[in-house]
Amino acid sequence: MNRMNRVSACQVSILASIAFVFLFQLTGIAFAEDKDSCVECHQNPDFLVTNKKLYDYYEQWSESVHKQEDVSCTDCHGGNPEFPGKGKAHGKGVGVSDAASGIFYKNIPETCGTCHEDVLDGFQESEHFQHIKKSGDEKQGPTCVTCHGSINVGILDVNSVEAACARCHTEERDNLPENPAKAKRILNRFLAIHRFYRYISIRIEPEEARDFFLAVDKRQAKLSVTWHTFDLDQIEKETDELLAVLKAKRDELQKKSKAVKQDE
Ligand code: HEC
Ligand code: HEC
Ligand code: HEC
Ligand code: HEC
Ligand code: HEC
Repeated sequence: MNRMNRVSACQVSILASIAFVFLFQLTGIAFAEDKDSCVECHQNPDFLVTNKKLYDYYEQWSESVHKQEDVSCTDCHGGNPEFPGKGKAHGKGVGVSDAASGIFYKNIPETCGTCHEDVLDGFQESEHFQHIKKSGDEKQGPTCVTCHGSINVGILDVNSVEAACARCHTEERDNLPENPAKAKRILNRFLAIHRFYRYISIRIEPEEARDFFLAVDKRQAKLSVTWHTFDLDQIEKETDELLAVLKAKRDELQKKSKAVKQDE
């Protein structure tokens, strides 16, 4: 009797979980077809064989920070994800050479800027932005994608920034060849900022931390906006100011901990 009971309880729970999985799949499919035909269609593994390049883009997206943040194909490309068929879904065009698409080079800053608004504000002040917008410009400016990649984005660091700027800023091109070294110097300062920040965050008194980091975080966010104006002198000025604030706090904390040690 006892044993029977246990078996049937077990069977019930298996049945329940099968039903649950089944329901989940049903609603999952219905939801996706409703909302995002781009992913539904592009994830088809048949493309691995018939159109590998196409599938690679899907794969890049599925491993990206943007996927984790629920940013989908249509957020960058445009199109109509509510239609299941390719023609209607692609609409007036979703590729790089379609002027209507979000990834046509002239549209890229605004596309990325729908979510990265502060960065776009800064970038719109830059000469880079002017050189994207002008037609037939022989000196083409970089878009967000030139520096960050397209789907699976990354951020340039001290080691990679010089080469990235030097794709355009060289003696041969007679285009501000001092910029790559300057950019590296600035990113080194950003590193110094992170180092001070870490040191302070471990040692600062909790009651003091909130106000201190509120002010510092604000300056840091501003710095990222200023960076994207590419007004390098202004960025140097702002990094100097922030470094001075952090260094003063670091010195204060160091003094305090020395005083405590001498008391012991
Ligand atoms: C029913 C399948 C299907 C749907 C839905 C679909 N696509 Fe496509 N897509 C394709 C195929 C197949 C290609 C390969 C080129 C071709 O056959 O036109 C493609 C090509 C593309 C390309 C490459 C550029 C081009 O135009 O060839 C992009 C970008 C793209 N799709 C994005 C999207 C986006 C964004 C959505 C949703 C708004 C979407 N797709 C919806 C099947 C689909
Ligand atoms: C964060 C923005 C972003 C998201 C999200 C995104 N893409 Fe893209 N995608 C781009 C950009 C920018 C390019 C053009 C630059 C390049 O080719 O590297 C591109 C290029 C492509 C291309 C080649 C287009 C061409 O005309 O050659 C395809 C295909 C594509 N993406 C498909 C997709 C699919 C499918 C998804 C969703 C599963 C997706 N992308 C999600 C930004 C995005
Ligand atoms: C629909 C909103 C949306 C769009 C469109 C979008 N992003 Fe993002 N992006 C996010 C979110 C959310 C994050 C994660 C939080 C953060 O770091 O700001 C993110 C993160 C990033 C990061 C930081 C990645 C990291 O490693 O920390 C970069 C760089 C980036 N996006 C660049 C781009 C570029 C370039 C485009 C255009 C091709 C773009 N984004 C389009 C929402 C978006
Ligand atoms: C010429 C190269 C270049 C261009 C163009 C560029 N960026 Fe950046 N971006 C960088 C570098 C270098 C960093 C790292 C410096 C920093 O930490 O602010 C960065 C940082 C970022 C970050 C991370 C900021 C943070 O606070 O973590 C985001 C998001 C971002 N960029 C988005 C964009 C978007 C969106 C555009 C276009 C409107 C764009 N970038 C254009 C080089 C560039
Ligand atoms: C795709 C090419 C390209 C890349 C990559 C590029 N730039 Fe530029 N940059 C330009 C062009 C074009 C101009 C305008 C030059 C002119 O008007 O003579 C410019 C101008 C500038 C200026 C002058 C702005 C002003 O207001 O005077 C600065 C500073 C600058 N770039 C910094 C950078 C940095 C830093 C990087 C790397 C993170 C970078 N650029 C990457 C093409 C590029």
